[in-house]
Amino acid sequence: MRIPRYFIDELMAKVDIVDLINSYVPLRKTGQNYTACCPFHTEKTPSFTVSHDKQFYYCFGCGASGSAISFMLNYARLEFVEAVQELASRAGMEVVYEQNDFPSVDSSIHDLYKIMEQVAKYYRDQLRKSQTAINYLKKRGLTGEIARDFGLGYAPAGWDNLLKTFGDNAETRNNLLKTGLTTQNESGKRYDRFRDRIMFPIQDRRGRIIAFGGRILDQSKPKYLNSPETSLFQKGSELYGWYLARKKGVLKTVIVVEGYMDVVALAQHGIYYAIATLGTATTVKHLTFLFRNVSEIIFCFDGDEAGQKAAWRALETALPLLQGGRQIRFIFLPQNNDPDDLIRSEGLQAFNEHITQATSLSEFLFNTLQQQVDMNSIDGRAKLVELAKPLLNQLPAGTYQELMSQELSRLTGINNLAVPKLPLKKYVKNSFRELSLVHQTIVYLLHQPELVKLIKYPEKLSFLEQQDIKLLLTLIEFIQIHPQLKLGVICEHWRGMEHESTINLLATQKVLITDQITDEFVATIDNLYKSYQEQRIKFLTQKVTQLTSEEKQELRTFYQLPPSR
Ligand code: UTP
Ligand code: MN
Repeated sequence: MRIPRYFIDELMAKVDIVDLINSYVPLRKTGQNYTACCPFHTEKTPSFTVSHDKQFYYCFGCGASGSAISFMLNYARLEFVEAVQELASRAGMEVVYEQNDFPSVDSSIHDLYKIMEQVAKYYRDQLRKSQTAINYLKKRGLTGEIARDFGLGYAPAGWDNLLKTFGDNAETRNNLLKTGLTTQNESGKRYDRFRDRIMFPIQDRRGRIIAFGGRILDQSKPKYLNSPETSLFQKGSELYGWYLARKKGVLKTVIVVEGYMDVVALAQHGIYYAIATLGTATTVKHLTFLFRNVSEIIFCFDGDEAGQKAAWRALETALPLLQGGRQIRFIFLPQNNDPDDLIRSEGLQAFNEHITQATSLSEFLFNTLQQQVDMNSIDGRAKLVELAKPLLNQLPAGTYQELMSQELSRLTGINNLAVPKLPLKKYVKNSFRELSLVHQTIVYLLHQPELVKLIKYPEKLSFLEQQDIKLLLTLIEFIQIHPQLKLGVICEHWRGMEHESTINLLATQKVLITDQITDEFVATIDNLYKSYQEQRIKFLTQKVTQLTSEEKQELRTFYQLPPSR
């Protein structure tokens, strides 16, 4: 289901971000802006700011930022279309859908969720009827209560239970296949995917069932069978147990474990904030999502070599995300023990002990690297610097990165490890002056769109061969057509487009809007024109063939020579 961009532009012009956010998170007026303790991370003093003028929110602590729609996506956790629907209904507008797109797509996705729900209920009913399955769960120490909380079920043995129960029409049979509940062989014969297995429903962040994991009751293989990736389920972005954990309240910490059973067993013993990735390593997507909701992630791994490796991979994935008070720590369990074994044999208190004593990032990072070098030799310590630097480089610029650099100096006795310059992409914390002229111009325009009037000759800029010049030109044009739009609305226009991340990065650039902004903007534009001139002069003077008369004229104006020499 698609919504045309013009509708979103119109909608955004009507929505007031202050009203909207205030209805979820009470805001206080402080000066020009509104503030609150940030709903995206835990904090004691408010650094979450909402600007009415810009129709934009920004948290100085964790960097969360965006428009009214972004807020609905990230805070209310709606899908894009739902966010638009919600805002439209608040604004009293009727959502416009792209033609031909509406009825079929919408109803079929809806039907997929519905069949998942029906099948989950069927599996739960089957669990109640199967003494073998119940005994298995009991043997594993689970109570009926926790099995109910997690919606555990049982897929009975047999090849066509779902087909027999639900497959009375072609559409449902197709939906069973589309959701991976059935599968088909080469000759096209369909059969149930899950047979004689304990079923773990996997819920998305809004509680909808999107997939299943199924465990065999004996020693056969594969031990776990999971739903394939479908239009409802993408492994790399889902987390088992998140929805139930979040339902308990706002979380500060989550523990990332490996298995379904670990999540369920920990929850039964009171650690309700454990979640598991679904048979994949932790991805950037997982972590980005989690860090919008919690400030600390504790990874729990086996104490063996595989566990160390997995932990290291998680560390590498997390480094670029560790800004503004976000933390990761690591629990390494005794060998051949998983969290499920451990909490059952040793209890809550012992497990909490592991949590309190979890290894910090700096300890894990430096210890691991130190094992690879000889710390007693100068060469070894220099090597440590070489190994650590690219990793510290990955951290966002800021206090934490500085502390880590200091720690590296302390360990190696090598001082003056200049804090490395960030690569171009990671602008956020850079100073405005370090941005390219094109990016500076974009920042000005995003924050004060009316400055666009001061750009007299946009067509001249179009010849500049600089990074993102096309983006700047599109922005200029967009603002000229929609002169009254604000920062948040402008950003919204770029959602899902190639330059979305650049626009968002530049939108959060702290720029002091002062009285001199007009002068500064004009100076920046002049500098852009100047670089255009330089580029043209270089081109024309180096041109091998004869210059045309227009080109001669152009060159004269650059040198401000009289028209006839
Ligand atoms: P483990 O083998 O550690 O399973 O796999 P576990 O959770 O301790 O299982 P129990 O205690 O024997 O029941 C961890 C996770 O890896 C995935 C599953 O997501 C599982 O929870 N996995 C494992 C599979 O997808 N398939 C498999 O065959 C095994
Ligand atoms: Mn286990």
